[in-house]
Amino acid sequence: MIMTPFLKWAGGKRWFTQRYSHLLPKRYSRYIEPFLGSGSVFFHLQPQQAVLGDSNPDVISAFQGMKEDWVQLRSRLLDHQRLHSNAHYYAVRSTVPDDKTEQAARIIYLNRACFNGIYRVNRHGVFNVPRGTRDTIVFDGEDFQAKAQLLQGAQIHLADFESLIDDARDGDLVFADPPYTVRHNLNGFVKYNEKLFAWSDQERLAYALFRAYARGAKIVCTNANHSSIRELYADRGFTLLDVSRFSPISASADSRKPFEELVIISDPPREGEER
Ligand SMILES: C[S@@+](CC[C@H](N)C(=O)[O-])C[C@H]1O[C@@H](n2cnc3c(N)ncnc32)[C@H](O)[C@@H]1O
Repeated sequence: MIMTPFLKWAGGKRWFTQRYSHLLPKRYSRYIEPFLGSGSVFFHLQPQQAVLGDSNPDVISAFQGMKEDWVQLRSRLLDHQRLHSNAHYYAVRSTVPDDKTEQAARIIYLNRACFNGIYRVNRHGVFNVPRGTRDTIVFDGEDFQAKAQLLQGAQIHLADFESLIDDARDGDLVFADPPYTVRHNLNGFVKYNEKLFAWSDQERLAYALFRAYARGAKIVCTNANHSSIRELYADRGFTLLDVSRFSPISASADSRKPFEELVIISDPPREGEER
C-alpha cells in the first residue's frame, strides 16, 4: 500500500522515493532515520521496526500523537477542517497545548494551512508562519489508521542525530537526510541553513556514519552536491552518486539544474540484484 507523509516539509524526499528507490536496500534489520521531517522515506519503505528522530519538537509531537491516539487526533483534525478560517488559524497558532494529541493536531493543521507549508519559528521557538491562501483544509480521506499502525513498530525520539546513529548495529539501515550545508557558503540558502546545521555538524554526521558503517550498518545519506561534501566522504568505502529532483523530460530549461544533490551509499545496487 502506498503511504504518503502527513506533513509537508522543506527538503522532503518524496521525489527521491519516486525516482531513486532502487538505491535503498530492501533487506535490513531496523530502519533508522535521524532527520525525520515528514518521513517520506519511512512511509515509502514501511519498515516493521524503526527508530525515528528529529531535533524539532513539533515534528516529534506530530508523529507521537499519530502513533498514540490516531482516533482522537483524527477527530481534532476534522474539527480544524470544519472551523478553518483566518481567525481560527491565528487562534490555533497562539495556543500552547499540554496534551500530546492537541499538540499533534495543532502542528499538522498549521502545517497544512500555513503559507506554502513553511516551517519557521521565532527566537522563542514559537511557530510564526502566516496563514496560507487555502479556504478549505481537508483531512477526511486520509488513512490515519494505517499510518498509526505502521508507527506502532517505531520508536520516536526528540534527539540530536548522533545518538540515533550511534545506536545502529550490524544489519541496520541508516537513512540520513540532514539540512544541506557546505564548507564555503556562497549561496543564501545554504547560509541560512548554516545557523541550523553548521559545517561542524556535517563533520559530526560523517564521523557518526563512518562508525556505524564500521559496525556493519548500511548507510544511505542524501546531501548537497558540493566538493566539500564529496571530500568529506571520499576514500571511506562509500559510493557517491549524483541525483536530480527534476525530471530531465518534464523540466523546463530554466528549472533544470541537473544533479543538484548527492547520495552517499555503502551498498550500491549491483546489476540484476534482488535487493
Ligand atoms: C531535510 S529535513 C528532512 C526531510 C525528510 N527526509 C523528509 O522527507 O521530509 C532535515 C530535518 O533534520 C532536522 N534536524 C536539524 N538538525 C538536526 C539535528 N542536529 N539532529 C536531528 N535532527 C535535526 C530538521 O528538524 C529537519 O526536520
